Amino acid sequence: MEAAGAGTPTQPPAPHPAVAPLAFLLGKWRGEGEGSFPTISSFRYGEELLFSHHPSKPVISYAQKTWKAASGEPMHAESGYWRPRPDGTVEVVIAQSTGLAEIQKGSYDAEKKMVTLQSELVGNASKVKQITRAFQVADGELSYIVQMATITTSLQPHLKALLKKI
Ligand code: HEM
Repeated sequence: MEAAGAGTPTQPPAPHPAVAPLAFLLGKWRGEGEGSFPTISSFRYGEELLFSHHPSKPVISYAQKTWKAASGEPMHAESGYWRPRPDGTVEVVIAQSTGLAEIQKGSYDAEKKMVTLQSELVGNASKVKQITRAFQVADGELSYIVQMATITTSLQPHLKALLKKI
């Protein structure tokens, strides 16, 4: 006898109501990006991003890893938690593989599928003073821009990437 449910397509569980407005982020994304800053040589990288959740929790788990586009050698990685609020604001904590820790606050627009974040706290950083992050999903692709300000350089882009859902 067949197990109950065999042969029926499985639907992903509905997200927690707090997470629902950011459901456009959920899933695994993969693509390529370019890094730059006035003080460094620009570089290309591959990236995988995972936004996951459990329907009982009002939070999205975030995990990112990157690698050198040419060789596949691992580069920067980071992970954290996104807490969207019903008033359209969002609070994010991120731990980077370099030891740097971020608390980001910002807002989302569920219609435009956009999230913008500004650092409220950058901890354990020798050079970084400020970090902003902007994400958008359009035509099924996730793009983002990360900007930073350092002790020597004003706020400007460090990373830009375009990822597809996998
Ligand atoms: C350089 C911060 C993400 C790769 C730097 C520098 C800083 C920095 C402060 C040195 C700039 C200077 O000396 O003026 C950050 C922050 C990140 C981030 C805060 C995230 C918010 C990444 C990612 C990658 C990456 C995701 C790789 C995919 C590099 C490379 C350099 C660099 C290759 C130049 C070489 C070096 O100094 O190590 N980054 N970074 N960074 N970053 Fe990032």
